[in-house]
Amino acid sequence: MRLSLRFVLPLMLVLAGIAYAVAPLVDRLTLSWFVHDLESRSSLIANTIQEPLQELLAAGKRVKILEFFNRLTQDERLFAVGYCATPASRALATRSLPPEVRCSDLHLWEGTNHLLPSAKGPLHVTVRPMVSEAAPEGRLVLVHDMSFVTRRSEETKRYLFYLFMGLAAAVSLVTVVIAQLSWRGWMAGMRSLLRGEGLLRQPRGAQPSLPEFKPIARDLQRLIRELESDARARDEDQITWTAESLRAILRGELRGEDIIVVSNREPYIHQRRGDRIEAQRPASGLVTALEPIMRACSGTWVAHGSGSADREVVDRHDRVSVPPDKPAYRIRRVWLTAEEEAGYYYGFANEGLWPLCHIAHVRPTFRSGDWAQYVAVNRKFAQAVASEAKTKAPIVLVQDYHFALLPSMLREELPDATIITFWHIPWPNPESFAICPWRDEVVAGLLGSSILGFHTQFHCNNFVDTVDRLLEARVDRESFTVSFGGKLTAVRRYPISIAWPPEAEMLQKNVADCRSAVREQNDLPPEVMLGIGVDRLDYTKGIVERFRAIERLLELNPEWIGRFSFVQIAAPTRAGIEEYQQHEAQVRATATRINGRFARRGPPPIVLKVEHHEPREVYAYFRAADLCFVSSLHDGMNLVAKEFVAARDDERGVLILSQFTGAARELPEALIVNPYDADQCAAALHLALTMPAAEQRDRMRLMRGLVAEFNVFRWAGRMLLDAAAMRRRGRLIGRSGGVET
Ligand code: G6P
Repeated sequence: MRLSLRFVLPLMLVLAGIAYAVAPLVDRLTLSWFVHDLESRSSLIANTIQEPLQELLAAGKRVKILEFFNRLTQDERLFAVGYCATPASRALATRSLPPEVRCSDLHLWEGTNHLLPSAKGPLHVTVRPMVSEAAPEGRLVLVHDMSFVTRRSEETKRYLFYLFMGLAAAVSLVTVVIAQLSWRGWMAGMRSLLRGEGLLRQPRGAQPSLPEFKPIARDLQRLIRELESDARARDEDQITWTAESLRAILRGELRGEDIIVVSNREPYIHQRRGDRIEAQRPASGLVTALEPIMRACSGTWVAHGSGSADREVVDRHDRVSVPPDKPAYRIRRVWLTAEEEAGYYYGFANEGLWPLCHIAHVRPTFRSGDWAQYVAVNRKFAQAVASEAKTKAPIVLVQDYHFALLPSMLREELPDATIITFWHIPWPNPESFAICPWRDEVVAGLLGSSILGFHTQFHCNNFVDTVDRLLEARVDRESFTVSFGGKLTAVRRYPISIAWPPEAEMLQKNVADCRSAVREQNDLPPEVMLGIGVDRLDYTKGIVERFRAIERLLELNPEWIGRFSFVQIAAPTRAGIEEYQQHEAQVRATATRINGRFARRGPPPIVLKVEHHEPREVYAYFRAADLCFVSSLHDGMNLVAKEFVAARDDERGVLILSQFTGAARELPEALIVNPYDADQCAAALHLALTMPAAEQRDRMRLMRGLVAEFNVFRWAGRMLLDAAAMRRRGRLIGRSGGVET
């Protein structure tokens, strides 16, 4: 509005000025027109009255002539009429004839336009010959009143002024409207150019864009992305990642948006023990990582209700609030039939995808019946998530290989949802993955995600290569995005971690007490050097290889016989699968064989504990040990390595870590080993057992610094910040979920 006034007022003033400047011109012009008109009029009158006037003159009727003249001057404009028979005679005229008009001068005025000034305004004098036999020099004088010209001129000037003002207003209005429209259009165009819309993508019904602008739009988009990620990187560096900072991000960036997590394994399993119900925390890296996130976010966790007392504690919507002692979020349990569990969980997920993705030399088994159950259960979970969603655009965190189809199924149920899928296990190379008979469906299912996360860049690369090989999809290796079926999926590396600081309860018992208590509980002498291994009893964990390395240590360095014991906590897992049963048998047999070889000279080298341990007990073992041995043959991350580091606030203890874990990329201060190389592992065990306290402290301090900084709140926070940025971009172009390409 202000802009309009600033423009309109000067324009009106300029036009008013112009109007005044042209007014004298208009005066002159109108005067010359009227003079010309009056001349014509005078000629007409002279011609018309000639005959009657000649007759009256011939008859010498002077009075009649004067009456005739007076009648003529009743015309508004004819001011006076006169007749001169000779230049020397007196004019026979109406009284109004101005005294300046004398018969002696008439011959001079004949044929010219003569103007006389008067008080009323100018008078126009026309002289016409009126020849007769009696008066060969007779002349008729017609005097017209020209004051009407002044009046007309004033009126014309006024109208001219109004005309210019109207014109000014109209011009201003049109100019302002056009300026506004084109400014808006330009701004909108610029905005859409910056978003890359309109050039890369056309709104419905719009003209096709100029192809030559597309590179500019792409460059702008890239620039914006870089600026965004720079700003975020700067911001992230300044954030100390805690449960509270994660909550702040949720409140700020995601406006308190509801978070729904979906995983197969539930964070609390209610088990019946006689007449008591116990809430058990399962051995699962996924649960370890996500549980503190959910405590911070207070969302809903949708999971398979697998505990013997799970149904007893839920409400009528199959929900239960947890943790039991201090409820912070809720679990929505999904019930599976025995057939569903057998096909989906034991079959396709754990006999098919699990060995397919881990290079652990166990052949995957694929059955069409298992696949059918996998599809059906994924559908069941999609419906459960949709029924838990409070808004049309929730943020759904889909977890792991149990739910490869869930992202695209959810996209159907909740098109505006932001779906972040995290694949907790490795992703193999395209050749290995192609073994799966339903490879296309699995990959297409995952591409329903807005963001797909892996622990390492290597796994991101493998996934993108697999997509490139299998599907008709557009892969952008610069931005690491896949465009499939009109939707974009960002493939990102988010190395998972654990909560920092660890729960106070975990570190409550001091290290010395833990050392003595653990040795006592396991009938080990107080001075024995202790190693610890904590795993699910899974063939990917390299437990047999670990035992062989211990055997090799005792062979190569017999001084450790009777002075070193290794406690292996092995949580029973997936016991319904034959491969796991065989593996358990092999682990037990290897421990027994090695103990048989060396136990005669003191405590057993291996203490195998195949049973569930709660996190608090596991932490006591970590604190009691001199070394922790993680020998996975292949592992996405392996959080046990990070938990051992977190447990050692005394900055003691040595971590021996397989090079085939994601954790090895983040913790180079560990002793990194190849678990297949027994001699190398034995050397590492010896090095760990003899490592000076100062070196232990230096290494542990660096590792603790890394785990503290790159904790699980950062893991979740980075994903959620990326999701928030994606939603902002989505909102700009009218969507909040996956970004259309
Ligand atoms: C791995 C998987 C998790 C799984 C965990 C325990 O860490 O990535 O998804 O929960 O193993 O396995 P389970 O079959 O007992 O859930």
